Amino acid sequence: MRTALLDQLRCPFCGTRLALVDTGATVSDDHVVSEGVLGCECCAFPVVAGIPVLLADEATRTAMHALEAGRRADALQTLLGLDGERAARFQALQARISPATYRDMLDILSPDAEGRYFLYRFSDPTFVPAEAIVRTLGQSPSVAAGPILDHCGGSGHLSGVLAGLAPGGPPRPHTVVTDLHFWKLWLATQFTATAANAVCCNADAPLPFVADLFAMTVLMDAFPYIWHKRLCADEMSRVTRSDGVVLLPHLHSSLGENPSAGDPLSPLAYQELFAAHAPRLFSDRRVFDSLVDDAVVDLASNLSSDALGDEPSLTLVASRDDSLFRRHEAPDPPQPAEGVIVNPLYTMVARNGRSVLTLQFPTPEYAEEFEDCRRYLPIEVTIDADLTSRLNPTLIGPRYDDLRRRRILIDAPPRYC
Ligand SMILES: C[S@@+](CC[C@H](N)C(=O)[O-])C[C@H]1O[C@@H](n2cnc3c(N)ncnc32)[C@H](O)[C@@H]1O
Repeated sequence: MRTALLDQLRCPFCGTRLALVDTGATVSDDHVVSEGVLGCECCAFPVVAGIPVLLADEATRTAMHALEAGRRADALQTLLGLDGERAARFQALQARISPATYRDMLDILSPDAEGRYFLYRFSDPTFVPAEAIVRTLGQSPSVAAGPILDHCGGSGHLSGVLAGLAPGGPPRPHTVVTDLHFWKLWLATQFTATAANAVCCNADAPLPFVADLFAMTVLMDAFPYIWHKRLCADEMSRVTRSDGVVLLPHLHSSLGENPSAGDPLSPLAYQELFAAHAPRLFSDRRVFDSLVDDAVVDLASNLSSDALGDEPSLTLVASRDDSLFRRHEAPDPPQPAEGVIVNPLYTMVARNGRSVLTLQFPTPEYAEEFEDCRRYLPIEVTIDADLTSRLNPTLIGPRYDDLRRRRILIDAPPRYC
């Protein structure tokens, strides 16, 4: 956690400032707090692995006591929810000479459908349009300049994109990712969004930030899982500047069918909840089609809640800046300094300097839920290069841009798989 974040944090319960408490457990320098205890006027909260945990539950208290007793590894394991065999596997991975990957850690922290969802997130057909939308909005000077919040950001795939939006400069240091689950934020800070600040907090409670802080507040694929929706919407509006953007990509509609639907509302109800920021509603189906077919991010074709009918999901974009609401050419993501890798949805056979990639879905359920990715991921593709290491344009040749645009090659961060 960057020390500067302390000025922007507030206790989610009493609303007062948070400051480091001298417990002897603090590990920090002028810029970064790695471990420590934060106190406000009502509570104390641990900072573990650089992540403030602003929750009041048993695991958080146990972790704080472990930290105060100098048992930092125990505090981390408690918050990661590891014990017994999983804790032993985690320790073995951390002690290994070759550094563990995101995928290795996910195998321990979430060996289930949610883990699969995260592993293949970079190419899934709900993530691809959301990434194009945030890159488009990020071209607006007001969004590019200000801090961005990725609320309920999971393990940081979109947060990493948001942290890289600052034009021409180094990754924005003041992107913030939140989630209820510490293990997801730990993965984000270790692998996918290393430049972001992570804050563990509950979206069913007031947001732990001062008002009017963020130039853009994003909440992707999570709002229906929040019970206190009015509070969450009001809080997102409160922490977003009046000239800022509130963005909810992939919002399940209660009028359509969705796998893992949560507790969705109707399009009209979503529009009313975010009324303070002048929301417009977009059909996810149309946004996806115009991106995949025409390389366009169409923010001109908003629909009325009635016109959305029984579409399964929509995207809500709220901003008073009318210039955002037009058709934009889909922006090209910047060239990743570390190169790209083959999408882990492909198995690869390399022979005589050629690589044959075959699309292999991890489960039938995954194949069904994310079948739209077939629109850009071919079943088989042969590339005249050995793709077993990290890749760059020179190695791949003229097909590089197209393979990357189609997510056959993905901009995964170092040590992803
Ligand atoms: C489907 S995932 C989406 C993650 C991320 N936004 C993305 O698109 O990759 C939903 C996320 O919402 C988080 N979440 C659900 N309820 C929450 C709550 N009450 N407070 C904070 N996060 C919550 C989950 O932990 C999960 O990471």
